[in-house]
Amino acid sequence: MNVNWTIERYEEVHSTQDVLRERGEKAQEGLAVVAQVQTKGRGRHGREWISPAGNLYFSFLLKPDVNLKSVGQLGLVIGQALGAALREIVDQPDEISLKWPNDVLYGGQKCAGILIETQLNDRNGIDSVLVGIGVNTKSAPEIGVCIDRDNEDTLQSVLSAVNEVYALWCVGDFDEVLRRWHNLAHPKGAGMSVKLGEELIEGVFESVDSDGHLHLRLNDNTLRTITAGDVYVTGD
Ligand code: BTN
Repeated sequence: MNVNWTIERYEEVHSTQDVLRERGEKAQEGLAVVAQVQTKGRGRHGREWISPAGNLYFSFLLKPDVNLKSVGQLGLVIGQALGAALREIVDQPDEISLKWPNDVLYGGQKCAGILIETQLNDRNGIDSVLVGIGVNTKSAPEIGVCIDRDNEDTLQSVLSAVNEVYALWCVGDFDEVLRRWHNLAHPKGAGMSVKLGEELIEGVFESVDSDGHLHLRLNDNTLRTITAGDVYVTGD
């Protein structure tokens, strides 16, 4: 059930996601691409991920045998693994937390991000999933904080945690992944603002459901299900 990692290393690429994508259908699960610099690193919602030398940038290929709907869970699977891995290596493990959908925070500020891109086959099923991770190991180029850790230690810690949590998910135990995710994330009742395009919604965190969607309790006590958006935690 373990993923066998094959790591390819580059000095400079546009984006490790693109290097992986260009491999096409023949690429095997577990192929991982690491780069020292990205000239066109990208983040969620089409944003730029500024990628100077020093920080950790990598992408890896997964080929889960699940239906397309379950891919929404994968962000939490990888987020949980990344959070657990960083807890293993930072000076203050308790300061690592998760923010929906898949940001990892250190002392309340973002220190790592995850980008998940799904490639479909001609039957509209999943061919493969490209998982890209950027960790501020040495600097915080735009926002957030850095964890001041060695890139190789960080990479190995993350790949090993992904192996464990991905295996759980592949055997159908998303409940356990979600339980672990909730343990590292904002508590129920935490104040939140969610930006959906131009709209800003305010409420408190209720839970994340089995599709990986966020449930926000609004001020009028109704529940709103959110499938994508930028979350700002405003208090516990
Ligand atoms: C986010 O917006 O939080 C996600 C950031 C993901 C950045 C990583 S760095 C390695 C991989 N290659 C990219 O171009 N993006 C991801």
